[in-house]
Amino acid sequence: MTFGTSSLDFSILPFTEGVNPPVTKPNPAFLTDITEQGMRNLLDRFYMGLYESPIKEIFPQDKEAMKIAGQHSADFFIQICGGPAYFNQNRGAPQMRGRHAPFRITPNARLHWLVTFEEALQPIIKNKLSSEENIQSFWNYLNVFSQWMVNSKD
Ligand code: HEM
Repeated sequence: MTFGTSSLDFSILPFTEGVNPPVTKPNPAFLTDITEQGMRNLLDRFYMGLYESPIKEIFPQDKEAMKIAGQHSADFFIQICGGPAYFNQNRGAPQMRGRHAPFRITPNARLHWLVTFEEALQPIIKNKLSSEENIQSFWNYLNVFSQWMVNSKD
């Protein structure tokens, strides 16, 4: 029997206060591989995961509102992966740090956010919908840029 080997690395970079490390956009091939609908499904899974996560309090409390929030987020991720500028069209300039400012985002909340995203990525990995290289590039983006969103010590 042979077992597949994976080179995916989902380790989480430590958060360092006051440091916004340089961000590299995800490889656009990730979007090409999974398609726009695949990105929408990914963000739907992610937001449904957040809805039941230890950080659910900072998100909309209503399931339908969460579905809508997930699709705003999908608009953003499609755009950041080189697809159509849906987020700019629907929500305006990203200004992500500013948009997150009303929410208390601690280093620990970032960890839960990333772990929930890792769970949402699993069907893409299991069904080999994208290459490990492209999935890694998407994860690296989340890992680094999520550090920028932390705005509260605890
Ligand atoms: C790679 C890092 C992140 C990206 C790209 C990102 C992206 C987004 C986007 C696109 C929105 C929707 C904004 C809008 O429609 O106006 C959003 C909202 C939000 N994000 Fe993030 N986010 C990131 C990290 C985080 C982290 C680490 C947390 C908390 C642990 C967080 C919590 C929230 C909350 C509470 C909202 C408002 C509810 C919602 O509309 O979803 N985000 N984020």
